[in-house]
Amino acid sequence: MSTSLTITRPDDWHLHLRDGAVLRAVLPETARDFSRAIIMPNLVPPVVTGAEAASYRDRILSALPEGMTFEPLMTLYLTEDTDPADVALAAESGLVKAVKLYPAGATTNSASGVRDFDRVRPVLEKMAEIGLPLCVHGEVTDAEIDIFDREAVFIDRVLDPVRRATPGLRVVMEHITTKDGIDYVKSNDADLGGTITTHHLIINRNHILVGGIKPHYYCLPVAKREEHRLALRAAATSGDARFFLGTDSAPHTDENKESCCGCAGCFTATNTMALLAQVFEEDEALDKLEAFASKNGPAFYRLPENDGTITLVKSDTPTDFPEKIETGEGPVTVFDPGYPVYWSVA
Ligand code: NCD
Ligand code: ZN
Repeated sequence: MSTSLTITRPDDWHLHLRDGAVLRAVLPETARDFSRAIIMPNLVPPVVTGAEAASYRDRILSALPEGMTFEPLMTLYLTEDTDPADVALAAESGLVKAVKLYPAGATTNSASGVRDFDRVRPVLEKMAEIGLPLCVHGEVTDAEIDIFDREAVFIDRVLDPVRRATPGLRVVMEHITTKDGIDYVKSNDADLGGTITTHHLIINRNHILVGGIKPHYYCLPVAKREEHRLALRAAATSGDARFFLGTDSAPHTDENKESCCGCAGCFTATNTMALLAQVFEEDEALDKLEAFASKNGPAFYRLPENDGTITLVKSDTPTDFPEKIETGEGPVTVFDPGYPVYWSVA
């Protein structure tokens, strides 16, 4: 038995590529299946200015193996010192497609993020004026807020007030992990979109913690209860144009994951499209996969859809994905859904 599905070539609207040896190792994993990706700016030091984004883009393109094509869609890391004029210039030149908001301290390499939102008001106003989207890591960082509540609290305390204070600001609520996030995106207008990762459609918090701690399932925002995972699945597979794929594929070496203080991030670049085909098939929504992975994102970002296609094939034997990707800095473990996957990209 063999089934196949051909869709417009997908894009990844939230991706970590890192730099140097890790960049060279992980970039082909994405470029194989995806035409474009929104590139996260959380390097050390972060990508803050248009000039830094231009030079990071050059490094990405020079890391691309011969014969592969890929377009990195660059982002700027929003700091309290970001210059609105620099942002506007980088957007006008076509280099930068979004600005990334990390609340200070929310996740890996987010120390330069925003503490005082009044200090970034001029940048947000300029972005609203020119239609440049703000990509938001939606978690509060207050020590007294439980890690499983940080997304829901962020919506009330930060996201909604920021959006009300800046009419016209286009916002992507990234890597939504809760029903609260899904409901918030649904209850708003076309200026608000949401990305959903592959792994959050597959795991809930039990996968991280039951039967021994599983560092390769730990990411931020952390996976929540099953009811939240089901809300994400329903949104992703509905075809609703406000939801699109952002894998948040975030490579860390095994040494840094399998540690007494392990890094947050799941590496899904290698098998994302196969996993999604299986997820959408399970939910009897294979006909909605193209909307989620290839159409809704470009529509939100006001970019053309890709020209090419990819073909997903289902076979009657499980697909053999590599367990790890070798990088110059050590192996990076590929996300394992914990069950056999019968789909692959032809
Ligand atoms: C990301 C990383 O490793 O850069 N980790 C993660 O768990 N998603 C940071 C982020 O996007 O939060
Ligand atoms: Zn991320």
